[in-house]
Amino acid sequence: MAGATGRLGRHVVDVLAERGYQIVPMSRATGVDIITGEGLAEALTGVDVILDVAAWHDSDQEAATEFFRTATRNLHEAGRSAGAGLVVAASIIGNDKATAGFVASQQVHEEGHLSGPLPARILRAAQFHEFVGQLLDWRRGDVAHVPALPTQLVACRTVAETLVDLATDPEPPARPDPGTPIPEIAGPRRETMAEAAQLLGARRGVKVVAVDGSGLPDAEIAAAGAFLPGPHAELAGPTFREWLDTQP
Ligand SMILES: NC(=O)c1ccc[n+]([C@@H]2O[C@H](COP(=O)([O-])OP(=O)(O)OC[C@H]3O[C@@H](n4cnc5c(N)ncnc54)[C@H](OP(=O)(O)O)[C@@H]3O)[C@@H](O)[C@H]2O)c1
Repeated sequence: MAGATGRLGRHVVDVLAERGYQIVPMSRATGVDIITGEGLAEALTGVDVILDVAAWHDSDQEAATEFFRTATRNLHEAGRSAGAGLVVAASIIGNDKATAGFVASQQVHEEGHLSGPLPARILRAAQFHEFVGQLLDWRRGDVAHVPALPTQLVACRTVAETLVDLATDPEPPARPDPGTPIPEIAGPRRETMAEAAQLLGARRGVKVVAVDGSGLPDAEIAAAGAFLPGPHAELAGPTFREWLDTQP
């Protein structure tokens, strides 16, 4: 499982372990680099399904695109040599409409998986509850300026459960029919990112000011709902507020 130590990855590890699956955690911290290939062939020996929740660490589109292009190619090639039968990857809702930034890099991520030698299943997720804290951490000074753009935040644990369902679905993996929408998972409540950040800011003692998002990549289409779940999306709690109440 690639990206085992990340925000989403550690929940995927928990869900797999709770359901009794054997896991080979892959990240540079565990000695496996999916870009250079270090440790990859050894890690994939005997693996049936590859889960890919690895990610580039910042929003630069070009660097992120290069990361996902190389990572998907290496995972498929090493996976095929090792005899794996399926790759399941996390992506982002609305990436097909994005023109810039990290979200747009998911087009190459998805394309790399769907055109690779191994059958692949993709799950598109809404922004994670766990991502809101990062917006506060990125602030300069005492005040966090967060765009009032609509979102339908989802918990990493919820995404992990759906991803594991997809990875362990006994149906034989088929090449996706171009008419079938890619599965989506999102939270149950539409709100703005600024509203969620204000809830978190109140707990952390950080002032959050809502801004209109102009200057951000794709702010206009985001305001029009481009990154909200489609009608076929699965919606599952907890809401951001409920999730916050469970956090230490
Ligand atoms: N963040 C969101 O709100 C959001 C929303 C929807 C979908 N997604 C998607 O979910 C996925 C995971 O996102 P995340 O927020 O959980 O990411 P994250 O917290 O940044 O975790 C990234 C993971 O990738 C690993 N990694 C990075 N470079 C690597 C390399 N060269 N070789 C092996 N492992 C490497 C990291 O471990 P090491 O540093 O130890 O290598 C870490 O385990 C991404 O595909 C993202 O597009 C994210």
